[in-house]
Amino acid sequence: MKTLVFATNNSHKLQEISHAAGDHIRILSLTDINCTEEIDETAGTLEGNALLKARYIKEHYDYNCFADDTGLEIESLNGKPGVYSARYAGPGHDHQKNMDKVLRELKGVQNRKARFRTVIALIMDGKETLFEGIVEGNILTERHGDKGFGYDPIFQPTGYETSFAQMDLTEKNRISHRGKAVRKLVEFLRSQ
Ligand code: IMP
Repeated sequence: MKTLVFATNNSHKLQEISHAAGDHIRILSLTDINCTEEIDETAGTLEGNALLKARYIKEHYDYNCFADDTGLEIESLNGKPGVYSARYAGPGHDHQKNMDKVLRELKGVQNRKARFRTVIALIMDGKETLFEGIVEGNILTERHGDKGFGYDPIFQPTGYETSFAQMDLTEKNRISHRGKAVRKLVEFLRSQ
């Protein structure tokens, strides 16, 4: 059985990927390998941050591993908040303040096209591979729903009448950026 470290302590993400990976891949978290350091996300791109985290684990703990990074890219804001999605509202940011900032910036703006993009960086047997998942959609003019997290209440995926925050997790995973990237990773691992 292959063992891989997922450079996260987000239990929701761990559960999601362990479920998708099935029986023949053992996934360890940062806690499982006694890694308590904060790995700084200082790169200017999602790819850069995902690689930075995976390389840190490889270098300091010598495990095969993978890491992810996600951003919301809004067309009329030139791709912002992008790599800064988690901290878009600045110091004291939280999901509500981040959404408020986006809604403020898009007030009266016609073009509300946006996409979520996830990048997963895998380092296995010394080789780096990137996997990407994208979901296209629109930014709503106000919040809808209370499920999910982050920008879910203001993001409506193309072809759907509801926001991500109005979908149950199974439905969201089926079409989401992270769901798509995870399935590509799992397919790759199964083919090895
Ligand atoms: P992370 O790289 O997965 O931690 O994501 C960075 C930020 O992007 C999060 O703090 C959220 O604000 C946002 N984000 C990531 N994934 C989602 C999602 O599935 N729905 C809504 N917001 C998300």
